[in-house]
Amino acid sequence: MTADSATHPLVRPDLPQHRRLVTAVPGPRSRALAERRAAVVAAGVTSSLPVYVARAGGGVVEDVDGNTFIDLGSGIAVTSVGNAAPAVVAAVAAQAADFTHTCFMIAPYEGYVAVCEALARLSPGDHEKRTVLVNSGAEAVENAVKIARRATGRDAVVVFDHAYHGRTNLTMAMTAKAMPYKTGFGPFAGEVYRAPASYPLREPVAISGADAAARAIAVIEKQVGADQVAAIVIEPILGEGGFIVPAPGFLPALAAWARANGVVFVADEVQTGFARTGAMFACEHEGVVPDLVTMAKGIAGGLPLAAVTGRADLMDAVHGGGLGGTFGGSPVACAAALATLEMYESADLAGAARRIEARLVPRLLTLAARAPQIAEVRGRGAMLAIELVHPGTLEPDAAETARIARECAQRGVLVLTCGTFGNVLRFLPPLVIGDDLLDDALDVLEDVIAGPAPTTADGS
Ligand SMILES: Cc1ncc(COP(=O)(O)O)c(C=O)c1O
Repeated sequence: MTADSATHPLVRPDLPQHRRLVTAVPGPRSRALAERRAAVVAAGVTSSLPVYVARAGGGVVEDVDGNTFIDLGSGIAVTSVGNAAPAVVAAVAAQAADFTHTCFMIAPYEGYVAVCEALARLSPGDHEKRTVLVNSGAEAVENAVKIARRATGRDAVVVFDHAYHGRTNLTMAMTAKAMPYKTGFGPFAGEVYRAPASYPLREPVAISGADAAARAIAVIEKQVGADQVAAIVIEPILGEGGFIVPAPGFLPALAAWARANGVVFVADEVQTGFARTGAMFACEHEGVVPDLVTMAKGIAGGLPLAAVTGRADLMDAVHGGGLGGTFGGSPVACAAALATLEMYESADLAGAARRIEARLVPRLLTLAARAPQIAEVRGRGAMLAIELVHPGTLEPDAAETARIARECAQRGVLVLTCGTFGNVLRFLPPLVIGDDLLDDALDVLEDVIAGPAPTTADGS
C-alpha cells in the first residue's frame, strides 16, 4: 500500500483514483440499464450496487454515468491486485492473440502446468503436491470432495455452522445458510454433516479454540463416526458466514484430529487465499498444513479460474479422466493467473494486506467506541469486518447493516454485507489501494454509522 493510490506502480495510470459523484446514485444511464435488465436478467441474480460499471482499477470503480466509487469489495475478494491490472491485461491480450482455448484434456499447454507449479510452491507445506484447475470456487470444493472420497473410500463430509461453499447441489448442501442459498432448491446431496464452529463473539460462555474443536469432534464422532469421514471441509476464516475468525487453536486441533483419523483436511481458501489475510493463505496464521486447499477468487486478477492443490498421494488416487472439464484451466485464465501470482510475490501484497489492517483497524475500533451498534471489529489483513447489533444486546441488526451499505453507496463507497444473520459489514479492498482512498472511505463510513466525529478542544 502506498500513501497515494494514483502513484502505485501496479495500478492502471489512466483511471483517476478518487471518489467523485457527478449524478444521483444511480444516475440516468444506470437507471436505463436497470430497466433493460429487469426485462431479461433472471430475478434470482441480484447486485449490491445500483450502478453499472464502465471502468475499474486500483481502488476505484467508475460507473456509466461517470461516478467513481471507492472499492472496498474487490468483486468479493477477487481483484486483489487491482482491477484491470496492467500486467494482467497484457498477459490476457498476449495469450488471447495466440490461442483462446484447446481444452487441456484434448490438447495441453504450458500455462496450465506453470500455474500448477506456482500453486505447489505458494500453497502451505513443502510436501509433494498436485493440482487440478477448474472454473469456480464451488467447482473446486466439489472436486476436493470427489478426491477425498476416492482417496479414502469413505462417504461422509463434515462442514461447519456458518459455512459457505457455493451454490451447486453438493456445495449448497455444504453451505449453512438457507435463505437465499438453499431455500426451495432441495433435495440436497447426502452424506454431508454439520459440526459447531468457533464463533467467539457468540459463545454463551468464552471457550478456547481447543475446547471448541473438542466440541466439534465430539459431534463428529457421535453423529457420524470417525471412520466414516472422508473429509473435513473448513474455511480458515468463515467468509460469507460473517468473517468469523475462530478462536486460536481451533484449526490446529481439528487438523490434528483429522490426521490421526485418516480424514482429509480440506481448507477452503476460496475467499481467504492469495495474500488477502496478510499471509499467502490464511491457514499459515496458525501453522496448519491442509491435505487439500481449494482456491479461486484472487487467483487470476478477475478471470474465472479455481484450483484444488494437495498431497500428491491423495490427488493421484483419482483414475484418469475422473477430474477435469471443458473450460477448466483456460489458457487465458492461466496467463492471467501467472501475471497475478507473480505480483503477489514481487510486490509483497501480503505485506500490503497487513498494512491495510494496521490502517483500518484502529479507526474501526475508535468508531466502535462511539457507535454502540458495533459489537465487534474483527478479521485479518485486508479481510476485515464489523458486526452490527441492537445496542446493549447481541441481537443482530440486519436492517442497520443494509442501511449503512446503502448510504455508503449513495456517497461513493462500495461496501459489502455478509453474515448468517445479515448483520456484518465486510471490508475487502484491493491490496493496491492507497491510504488516501482508505482514509476517505473511512470518513464516509464513520459519518454514515455515527454522524460527524466529535472535534477536540483545539478544533482538530
Ligand atoms: C469460502 C468459499 N468457498 C466457495 C465459494 C464459492 O465460490 P464461487 O462463487 O466461485 O463458486 C465461495 C464464494 O464466495 C467462498 O467464499
